This record gives sequence, C-alpha cells and structure tokens, in this order.
Amino acid sequence: VTGPIVVQGAMPVEAERFAQRLDNPREEQIGGWRFWRGTVDGYPVVVSETLKGMSNAAAATAIAATNFHPVAIINQGTAGGHDPALKVYDIVLGKYSVSLGAFKTPKKALGEGSDSRQWQPMDLLASKGSAGEDKNAHTLRQFPADANLLSIAEGVKGSYTQGKVVEGVIGSADVWNSELDRIVYFHKNYHTSVEEMETASAAQIAAAFNIPFVGIRVLSNNITNQGKYDPQTGLACQDYVYQVVKAYIAKN
Ligand code: 5AD
Repeated sequence: VTGPIVVQGAMPVEAERFAQRLDNPREEQIGGWRFWRGTVDGYPVVVSETLKGMSNAAAATAIAATNFHPVAIINQGTAGGHDPALKVYDIVLGKYSVSLGAFKTPKKALGEGSDSRQWQPMDLLASKGSAGEDKNAHTLRQFPADANLLSIAEGVKGSYTQGKVVEGVIGSADVWNSELDRIVYFHKNYHTSVEEMETASAAQIAAAFNIPFVGIRVLSNNITNQGKYDPQTGLACQDYVYQVVKAYIAKN
C-alpha cells in the first residue's frame, strides 16, 4: 500500500507554486479547502491549501488523512523568527513543534492585571479530565517530526542557496507576536526558533492518524534582528520542499 505525499501550505503564495510543479495536476475542492492531486517523478503527491490558522490546518489535515491515506505529510510555509541568529530566507526543519496558544493563567483578582509571562503551558492531550485542574497537564506538549522525514529534509540542505537550513523548534498559535519580551520569553523557555499559525495543529492531527509528519518553515520576517517581511520567501520554501519530496521518492 502506497499513498501519496501531502504537501501543505496555508496561503496561495505558500501552495500554488508547488501545485504548478506537479505533473498532471487535478484540482479538487473539499469543503472550504483546495487540493491538487498529481505526481512528482511518477509518484503521487497531493498539494493542500490549508488556509491560515490552527483550526483550518487541523481540518485540512484530517480531510487529507481520510481522503488520501498519505504516507507522509509535510507542512511548510512562512514563519516569524524568534532566534536572532536566523535571518529572513533561512529555513527551519522542525524537530518538533509546540502550541503557543494553550495556557492556564494564575489566579489574579480584579485590578491585578495580566502578565502572559506568568502563564503556564497547558497540555490538552494529557488526560481526559479537566486539564485546568490536572497538575500533570502543565507541561509543554511536543509534536515530534518523523525521524526519517527529518533526515531526508536534512539531506537536501546542499541544494539551498538563499540562506541556511537548521533544525529547530516551531511554535504555533492563532497569534502574531510582535512584543519582543514575549518572543524572547518563548525563545528562552520553549526554545522556539520561529512562530507561525499551523504546524503544531497539523502535527497533532497527523499523529492521531499515525501519519509521519515534518514541518519545514522559511523565515519571512524576524523582528528580533530587524528582518523585514518578504512574502517571496514562501516560494523559496516550496522549492526546498520540492527537493525534499524528490529525495523521499528516490529513497522509496
Ligand atoms: N507570526 C505568526 N504567523 C506568521 N506567519 C508568517 N510569519 C508569522 C509570524 N511572525 C504565517 C502564519 C499564517 C500567516 C499569517 O503567515 O503561518 O499562515
């Protein structure tokens, strides 16, 4: 049994380039989501436009899992830097991803204000009871990359000329953080390399279906080192992932 490789991108600028590189592509609409089924080097590949954010990414991943039975899912696209050593156009291969949107706040009375750096992470998969009352649930859930996919992604590093390629941690939430103290907090405490809005969600759902998964993200912006936003980086990421897909196919 061999299913397709699914390549996910949230926005048109993060998916259409890859779809155009498929042989014999056929576009298919399922609910609110576009998919293109085609081949690369004769092997089936499905490009999925997940749309933006955690809910869209989860739904698109579940649809891909049940409709296409993929052997692998690669979530890719743009991200914002948390690590000042990373520049716009550098690529992060996610050794794991974390949610930057699941927390329990400390109790504070009216007038005591709010400081997000005091919030504890909440692992929503830790137990079937209330994560809010379960002390064991206050750990940061890591969604790991498949070791084989990560090593194949590492293996094509040499093909990339627009920046460096590193392994790192991808943080995801329906939040665009522009507060430098908050970004430094995540980088120091959660070891995040970049933030974006889909990977941890897609990884969680892929794991629920036992589908090997990896997140690959290009920096389109990095406010920790004045890295200006450049949406063209989304094209570079698809070109990198195209090389990853070709290498996967050559090995299988
Ligand atoms: N913060 C959050 N999301 C970002 N994205 C790119 N850069 C950032 C950032 N700094 C991506 C998200 C989402 C869209 C807003 O762009 O993944 O799809």
